[in-house]
Amino acid sequence: MRELFDAELNIDDVPRTQPQLVQAVKTADVLVPTVTDRIDAALIEQAGPQLKLIASFSNGFDHIDVDAAARRGITVTNTPNVLTEDTADMTMALILAVPRRLAEGSRVLTEKPGAWAGWSPTWMLGRRIWGKRIGIIGMGRIGTAVARRAKAFGLSIHYHNRKRINPATEEELEATYWDSLDQMLARVDIVSVNCPSTPATYHLMSARRLALMQPTSYIVNTARGGIIDEMALINCLREGRIAGAGLDVFENEPAVNPKLVKLAEQGKVVLLPHMGSATIEGRIDMGDKVIINIRTFFDGHRPPNRVLPGRT
Ligand code: DGY
Repeated sequence: MRELFDAELNIDDVPRTQPQLVQAVKTADVLVPTVTDRIDAALIEQAGPQLKLIASFSNGFDHIDVDAAARRGITVTNTPNVLTEDTADMTMALILAVPRRLAEGSRVLTEKPGAWAGWSPTWMLGRRIWGKRIGIIGMGRIGTAVARRAKAFGLSIHYHNRKRINPATEEELEATYWDSLDQMLARVDIVSVNCPSTPATYHLMSARRLALMQPTSYIVNTARGGIIDEMALINCLREGRIAGAGLDVFENEPAVNPKLVKLAEQGKVVLLPHMGSATIEGRIDMGDKVIINIRTFFDGHRPPNRVLPGRT
């Protein structure tokens, strides 16, 4: 960035405050936010006429009011494709971690050294993964990558999506399409949330839908916290109406509901701090995409990863 542009970088990686963001939109030609920065209509309204591009360092763009940017003639870009496999890996890690009690097992050795009395037949029993059914909500790039991994682990693939995926991929994955999310939820053992966050998917996993899941089932979310009604999920977990959850994302990030932390201590959930795409390779690829988007835009071309208004 420094080689190519007159760049003011956020070297210490501490999220910018709102006044700092206001200052940035008033002075910069390009803003490069992350998912932590709230680029809402109120902020965009304050942008100076020089701001032409918001080149987000992220795949998701729910933190940006793309329509408000369009009204001001500001182009928005994101970094799709490069974090698909990393996020799918992390999803699979959570799918394994909760039923097989990975975090709990690790804590036995690290938090209570010497407490382990040795292998025993009925201790630390989790739930088998293979042979179970996974229901993927959102069969886009990440959902499909999760399905490939899940199939290799012996899970049968079920999915709900706005539209059915192409027949060749469906056949490759031996996947069952459910037009009705409600019906799928009642029939699967693991639910994986992989759809984008839009007004239509806000609390898609509502109290009513969570109640459709089986008491032995698990839910994993590496998409966005707001897709699950977090309070309703907490109640289901506390009352044993769902067996467990693996969460990489939260409704009020970076704040995490203390009730979830308590459930994690009880081994009912595994919590991660939005680490789905956190690989060195992935972040370098994302940075490359940001730079290509900026360069292309200022060379007078349509940037490759333009986010069109009306998509959220
Ligand atoms: C993104 O870029 O949208 C991811 O959520 C970051 O991990």
